[in-house]
Amino acid sequence: MSTDKYADEIESVLIDADVIRDRIAEMGAMIGERYRDSEQEVVLVAVLKGAAIFVSDFARALSIPSELEFMAVSSYGSSTSSSGVVRILKDLDRDIADRDVIIVEDIIDSGLTLSWLMRNLRTRNPRSLEIVTLLRKPDAVKADLDILEIGFDIPNEFVVGYGLDFSERYRDLPYIGRLHPRMYS
Ligand code: XMP
Ligand code: MG
Repeated sequence: MSTDKYADEIESVLIDADVIRDRIAEMGAMIGERYRDSEQEVVLVAVLKGAAIFVSDFARALSIPSELEFMAVSSYGSSTSSSGVVRILKDLDRDIADRDVIIVEDIIDSGLTLSWLMRNLRTRNPRSLEIVTLLRKPDAVKADLDILEIGFDIPNEFVVGYGLDFSERYRDLPYIGRLHPRMYS
């Protein structure tokens, strides 16, 4: 990767940009097919900030029209793990009652944040509510979440890029990579 602006800081690439692109194209076709007969546009609810990059590619890969909504939540806990106690920093702009809603996530780790979000959005009576995530870590199985589609299952290690950050850096990387250990200290 000759134009890699963070080359010195990334230890290795976990998922290449073209692999991500191909998988999202696949997901867009498959999920579009599922919602083909929806009466109204599907509402994509992206969770800021991590899912911003993924949702912009996913919405364009989706073979049916969609509306974009964003939510920002903060979960109490450390920066790299969540506690399941969540506060809404930015709520949806619109009502989702009777709409087909897909929560779009960058990564599911413990799944605690998402469990909370599912419960919260369900109280707003959407017609349907599903989850699509680009990445899933092994611990996510404990959360017992029904996930419509997973881009990639990854090992239990910290990754950055394609929306994922470490202290707000690396979201703009086109691939998913492992940070060089010296960057943590
Ligand atoms: P849960 O509630 O599923 O939290 O434990 C998922 C959130 O944790 C963050 N997270 C990561 N962020 N690289 C990141 O940049 C990672 O490897 C990683 N693992 C978890 C992320 O904010 C996600 O939304
Ligand atoms: Mg983060």
